[in-house]
Amino acid sequence: MAFDYDLVVIGGGPGGYVGAIRAAQLGLKVACVEKRGALGGTCLNVGCIPSKAMLETSHKFEEAKLHFKDVGIDAKPSLNLKQMLKNKDDVVSGLTQGIELLFKKNKVEYIKGHGEITGDNEVSVGKKKISTANIVIATGSSVMPLPGVEVDEERIVSSTGALELKEVPKHLVVIGGGYIGLELGSVWRRLGAKVTVVEFLDRITPGMDAEVSKQFQKLLEKQGIEFKLGTKVTGAKKNKTSVTLTTEPAKGGDEESLKADVVLVSIGRKPNTEGLGLDNVGLSTDDRGFISVNDKWQTSKSNIYAIGDVIVGPMLAHKAEEEGVAVAETLAGQHGHVNYGVIPGVVYTHPEVASVGRTEEQLKDDGVAYKVGKFSFMANSRGRAIGETDGFVKVLADKETDEVYGVHIIGADAGTIIHECCVAMEFGASAEDIARTCHAHPTLNEAVKEAALAVDKRQIHS
Ligand code: FAD
Ligand code: NAI
Repeated sequence: MAFDYDLVVIGGGPGGYVGAIRAAQLGLKVACVEKRGALGGTCLNVGCIPSKAMLETSHKFEEAKLHFKDVGIDAKPSLNLKQMLKNKDDVVSGLTQGIELLFKKNKVEYIKGHGEITGDNEVSVGKKKISTANIVIATGSSVMPLPGVEVDEERIVSSTGALELKEVPKHLVVIGGGYIGLELGSVWRRLGAKVTVVEFLDRITPGMDAEVSKQFQKLLEKQGIEFKLGTKVTGAKKNKTSVTLTTEPAKGGDEESLKADVVLVSIGRKPNTEGLGLDNVGLSTDDRGFISVNDKWQTSKSNIYAIGDVIVGPMLAHKAEEEGVAVAETLAGQHGHVNYGVIPGVVYTHPEVASVGRTEEQLKDDGVAYKVGKFSFMANSRGRAIGETDGFVKVLADKETDEVYGVHIIGADAGTIIHECCVAMEFGASAEDIARTCHAHPTLNEAVKEAALAVDKRQIHS
């Protein structure tokens, strides 16, 4: 039976658009359905890219305001928030239009509208019915609501509203000490807000290596962010100019109140499956709403796949992209593969935090005998030269075989530095392999080499 398409991808985010392009490159006839009115998904439109634009410009502002003087530059910066927001919007629109061009170049058909699966081989967009051999669900995720603290995107905002605030709040309360809360909390603190982070658990960034997480919290506190750990928000009352949150200890206890001009709700994200028509083809979700797939990203219908934030796993753009490529290659008769053990995670604060592989806690839980090598940026000459001495590199390797199981970095440019460790791990490197690799001097990456040397207690510079 001839179908209109070999593949229809629902969702034009990093998973969907990258998968669509790769499938078209491999000779499949592909359409991508996107309802947002722009390609690029959460990541390009309201996530990775606008947040990184604001992190960069707010960092530059703070550097000019606080640190230029120390190095001999006299400047009196003042904030033009309108221009800063416009710069962010320009970056976003340039990139989303770029994806439309990539679609044209690769002959992927871009269909605007809400896609619903209406049959095993059918996707409907409004009244239009499209037949297809295969379907990839790449519908992504959206903000997890917090009962009693309804998002209005003005006083109580999600990350989307927090990227659009028209003035700097005097007091921003962030609910959730994870990726979004710490990145966007940092942006507004640098621009002048007092920032308080309320976190349910007794630590920030759960899942991160605990030693790194502890150091991260200390550095953020030094910058002025306040933390209320082990605290839950039980309700919110709004008036025209402020929000009063009621909180209580997570383990139970006396209620307190916390007044803010703006509240950011960032307690995680939930998969988007509403209105997708899963019922029409007998597909269901797990108890947290994720679509279940096998190791080839197939749902219980073998021609319907799911990738990215809508399935279980880290909610990261690059993870979604890898899955998109792997499914495209599988559909083209190749052997699509994702190495889930080597997916880096980066928090783009200053300093940055980057990690790949297992944490020390995970190695303990897995009963693995391991060695640790650590090296501080304080002892790294490039770090000293550029005034970036906070943080360290931590390498975890097998006690016997020396295979690298994880690298965790807190420090300037950690998100870039981590990639030599990803490549090393992808090739099954030992700490010795990294230690024997010549690193240019003076670079921050030399801290990785020294940490790898430190695994066998033979670092040179500390
Ligand atoms: P999405 O990007 O969510 O795309 C799904 C698309 O599907 C959306 O455009 C949606 O409109 C569309 N869609 C949904 N349902 C339908 C339907 N029925 N019909 C048609 N279209 C539909 N990750 C990183 O790796 N690095 C970062 O720095 C980073 N920063 C972030 C900052 C913020 C503030 C946020 C919120 C997220 C950030 N993320 C980051 C996470 C990243 O954005 C996601 O992991 C990534 O976008 C997931 O890609 P996806 O393709 O699975 O889904
Ligand atoms: P998150 O999962 O990173 O952090 C949520 C935090 O909220 C956790 O620390 C959790 O313990 C806490 N929490 C949960 N319920 C709570 C409650 N009721 N009260 C107080 N705290 C509560 O989620 P976040 O920050 O919303 O980001 C969503 C996802 O988006 C991330 O997990 C990440 O995958 C992705 N992202 C990635 C970025 C990057 O790669 N740099 C940047 C931003 C987002």
